[in-house]
Amino acid sequence: MISHRPRGIRADGRSRTRLPIASDTTRRAVSSVPASFVAVARARTIYACAACRQQVSRWVGRCPGCGEWGTIDAATGAAVAPILTLADPASRQDRVSTGIAGLDRVLGGGLVPASVVLLAGEPGIGKSTLLLHLLANLSGTGRDCLLVSGEESHGQVAARARRLDVAGDTVAFAPGRDLPGVIGAARERRPFLLAIDSIQAIRDPAAPGVPGGVAQVRACADALVGLAKELGIAVVITGHVTKDGDLAGPRTLEHAVDVVLLFEGDARSGMRVLAGGKNRFGTEGESAWFEMGAGGLREFDAASALRPGERVPGAALALPMAGRRAVAVEIQALVGPLEGSARRHSTGLDARRFHLMAAVLERAAGVHLGRSELFGATAGGFRADDPAVDLAVVAALASAATGLPPPAGTAFVGEVSLTGLVRSAPGMEPRLAAATGAGCDVVVAGVAPGSRSDGRVLPVRHVSEALAWAIRGRGRRDDGGRLSAAG
Ligand code: TYD
Ligand code: MG
Repeated sequence: MISHRPRGIRADGRSRTRLPIASDTTRRAVSSVPASFVAVARARTIYACAACRQQVSRWVGRCPGCGEWGTIDAATGAAVAPILTLADPASRQDRVSTGIAGLDRVLGGGLVPASVVLLAGEPGIGKSTLLLHLLANLSGTGRDCLLVSGEESHGQVAARARRLDVAGDTVAFAPGRDLPGVIGAARERRPFLLAIDSIQAIRDPAAPGVPGGVAQVRACADALVGLAKELGIAVVITGHVTKDGDLAGPRTLEHAVDVVLLFEGDARSGMRVLAGGKNRFGTEGESAWFEMGAGGLREFDAASALRPGERVPGAALALPMAGRRAVAVEIQALVGPLEGSARRHSTGLDARRFHLMAAVLERAAGVHLGRSELFGATAGGFRADDPAVDLAVVAALASAATGLPPPAGTAFVGEVSLTGLVRSAPGMEPRLAAATGAGCDVVVAGVAPGSRSDGRVLPVRHVSEALAWAIRGRGRRDDGGRLSAAG
């Protein structure tokens, strides 16, 4: 039990929440239950699936909703099923903007009241930070928000709020790891948004297992989904995923929630991509890009930040993967006169591979770099760890060495071997999508034998084929020509 005096609770002596709520805001009346919800009392037993909450009128062994076996149970204590009309609960006018354009986009147009969103990502990726930005924005528009954190103390969250320049007194906060306390606080306060950080940190005393275990995660998620539907509260839950993208057991939560958002990127670099997964209320596959900096997350347009756009010698477009998406990133190279000992400098690129690509360019493609100082970088400092950027690195170096820019509207994809062979890269579909977004109509790429051909791909087996524009054109003026892809 929490023994210290609850803060921020009304002083009129009415029943208190079971959690201390800090920095109370003036509560606005938020109509929490959509008008289309009409409860009609019926004395009969309702059966529901513990995994996806699908309700059925009689007991069955297998849930018709999610297909799981043995998850159907009589809904305890409630013999009343809510009878609804079919007015679309996620219709446009019900959606609430989060104030973050990219987040609105991946949500399908904003937050839907009574929906449950899972924000999943590796530890340290920025889930708590994004959550705080979201809470600050919604609170700023007069919507009551309650943040419950079992991960961080009141002091830690307050310090983060200061760092993010969030007016601390606008967001209500409750520390808590105990599910009944969280539910009690939400029932009492009825916020527009209940944010839970994280699902792994809260515990249902009625369920077995340790916090973060499959049984606990399932029980807590189930209770929160029930709360959202019953009170019409939007709930956002953060969840830690492992390196292979799993969340406390096989897809435990995905059945239960309405929307799954994946927050991905490299924890060391500032780049983050928020990708929409499952979405009951919108299209899947939307994404938004952010940069983590001193003042928190800043949304940016990946198209302009990573792709300056000028067609200049020494710049070639790569399509590296970031999480499950690809992005068009300009690779830049500079070949300078050597002063002192031979050096190679790289920013955003793997230094060792940059060195190797310079050697491959000389040996396998016959482009002489001589005794020169080489510089390689990615636009925006994007960490391009993906080996499939090799071909763009070679192209940027060849372009810098010859003074000829690569053909217009062309991107390069493929890992390059020491012998100059270009390997095919996985994820061609997202890479082609990124190419399209960047206005590229040709992707010079290594292709696996027998693979399905795409009209935009110009298949190459060797770097010399990929660099024909530089090798043949050496000493010639750039004619601005475009490559055309083989059908
Ligand atoms: P956090 O939101 O705590 O990640 P998660 O909740 O997913 O575990 O973010 C953690 C990282 O973000 C941490 O390494 C510090 C960094 N960070 C910044 O760089 N700038 C900031 O303004 C904030 C708040 C965090
Ligand atoms: Mg966190």
